[in-house]
Amino acid sequence: MIKITELAHKLILEKKDISIAVDMTVGRGMDTLFLAKNANKVYGFDIQQQAIEITQKLLDDNQINNVELIKDNHENIKEYVTEKVDVAIYNLGYLPQGDKDIKTESSSTINSLKSVLEILNFDGLIIIVLYSHNLEEITEVFNYTANLSSDYDVLEIKVLNRTTSPFIISIKKR
Ligand SMILES: C[S@@+](CC[C@H](N)C(=O)[O-])C[C@H]1O[C@@H](n2cnc3c(N)ncnc32)[C@H](O)[C@@H]1O
Repeated sequence: MIKITELAHKLILEKKDISIAVDMTVGRGMDTLFLAKNANKVYGFDIQQQAIEITQKLLDDNQINNVELIKDNHENIKEYVTEKVDVAIYNLGYLPQGDKDIKTESSSTINSLKSVLEILNFDGLIIIVLYSHNLEEITEVFNYTANLSSDYDVLEIKVLNRTTSPFIISIKKR
């Protein structure tokens, strides 16, 4: 059975020479670790101290030292990231095995997307993994991304024969 998070990583691996990558939702750090192994420098955002600590341990255990973890809302990305970004990944929702009430919200997700788009390099890639349990957020993200200008290629990638499967929206700057 296909794993959407693995597919998200495969899409990112199609991109060569990733200088700056951003994990917009660090969580338990699996995406951060993946990015760290494939980019020169990684920034990672999460609003929960627990997520930052879990991920820092994962990075330490793997002797990774090219990641800056930031405990803040990803809406504030431009306060921390001054370089152009090659890849950004979102894995929306709540911290696995954590508090399900602390989760991404459509307004801050869209605001952060606007900021990432401003600092995205040409040929840069944004991958968003969405889950079916937050319909409001899916609708908002879908409406916003589907209406981006033709400066971007926006794709929806989903498993058609498994309705509850997470799916991907990918945005590439042309
Ligand atoms: C589904 S988890 C991410 C999974 C993670 N990428 C991994 O590999 O384990 C979503 C995370 O987003 C975080 N989050 C929610 N709202 C946020 C926001 N506005 N800014 C940054 N992180 C946020 C949550 O605290 C949670 O840890």
